[in-house]
Amino acid sequence: MTTRTPLRPARSDRVPSVALAGVHGFGRTYVDRLGARAAAGRLRWTGVAEPRRQDGVVPAQVPWFDALPDLLAAGAPDAVAIATPLPTHADLAIAALRAGSHVVLEKPPTTGLAEFAEVLAVARECGRLVQVGFQSLGSAALDHVRDRVARGGVGDVTGYAAAGCWVRPRSYFTRAAWSGRRHLDGRVVADGVVTNPLAHALATALAVAGRTRVEDVTAVQVDPYRVNDIETDDTTSLVVSLREAPDLVVAVTLAAAEPGEPFVVVEGTRGRLTLHYTLDVVVEEVPGRPPLVTRHDRFDLLDDLLGRAADGGPLRAPLVAAGAFTRVLDAVVTGPAPRAVADAHLRRTPLPGGDEAVRLVGVEEAVATVLRERRTFAGCGVAWTR
Ligand SMILES: NC(=O)c1ccc[n+]([C@@H]2O[C@H](COP(=O)([O-])OP(=O)(O)OC[C@H]3O[C@@H](n4cnc5c(N)ncnc54)[C@H](O)[C@@H]3O)[C@@H](O)[C@H]2O)c1
Repeated sequence: MTTRTPLRPARSDRVPSVALAGVHGFGRTYVDRLGARAAAGRLRWTGVAEPRRQDGVVPAQVPWFDALPDLLAAGAPDAVAIATPLPTHADLAIAALRAGSHVVLEKPPTTGLAEFAEVLAVARECGRLVQVGFQSLGSAALDHVRDRVARGGVGDVTGYAAAGCWVRPRSYFTRAAWSGRRHLDGRVVADGVVTNPLAHALATALAVAGRTRVEDVTAVQVDPYRVNDIETDDTTSLVVSLREAPDLVVAVTLAAAEPGEPFVVVEGTRGRLTLHYTLDVVVEEVPGRPPLVTRHDRFDLLDDLLGRAADGGPLRAPLVAAGAFTRVLDAVVTGPAPRAVADAHLRRTPLPGGDEAVRLVGVEEAVATVLRERRTFAGCGVAWTR
């Protein structure tokens, strides 16, 4: 079954102007989206801000600035998309908001609670919107899961979980100065597995639970490890206590044997819902009947921002709803440093070009154990935590 939720285009005849900060890396996805929408006459692409100039990356007629303040000084667009390194997010978002632009801010929106509160306050003061680039929150699959829970489809909820087993080679952690760092040049970076590459797992689980504000998280147990030669964590479990809701357990790694689809689970007294959030697929399992698989549409969060800026409706992923995520991020970045896993538990596979992948033997089973026992890796007594 495929649900079709109508997309909500901008209800305005005026074509909005949009600029982009950060062009290379993930910014390329914005380059493609801005290019397609500009070609279709849906927006005016008024500039990019990016210190690393390179010909042929953006259309020649799009003005290129080395820094966002220069772009804003030349004329603030209706919206700015920010796809830059994590420690730059807050300053760039505040600059854009103060200039009068709405903002799409890539995840994680900020690297701590103080910056989060500051950006939120500036947005309110300036009367501007901030959409956070958790694209999984644009999925109608999320609405479907919430609806099934509200209708009692799996009975009373007994727990939430999020899991992800990805593979990231050594080159992933050397691609930028900030990769794999907890801090850099005196600033928090927060490039750990649960705060950056698999951040969607945590953010989506909190959204499914309807616990998205800072105050919705009452306690966080952090159990971080690293198998790569990095400063931050690449294999982490959490137990997140939620206000007036069952706990959320999270188990994620970048050191799996094979890349797997990450997922969020709602456990209930009658059954279970599994949201495969990168695929917009939901599996509902209730004993005594075959699993029910549904596929859903996804709203583009840039389109959503432009639409809601025009019609005043609620955003799919507003900054305020990244509060609970940021509360957990803050607990991770201010919590214990990740422990290096002993070499005996690791397998190293050489890759082309001198690259290498490090596998943590049995991490998939350990992730499954965390979800089953609803405790951290260490709490479950997993071998490599001892
Ligand atoms: N939503 C997703 O699925 C997803 C996936 C990957 C990355 N991201 C996010 O995108 C952002 C960028 O990640 P990345 O891996 O592409 O990083 P990156 O370091 O590879 O690229 C960032 C780009 O920003 C530029 N830049 C740096 N400082 C700048 C500044 N002050 N002003 C303008 N440009 C500046 C860099 O030169 C570079 O081109 C991060 O927030 C990351 O978490 C999101």
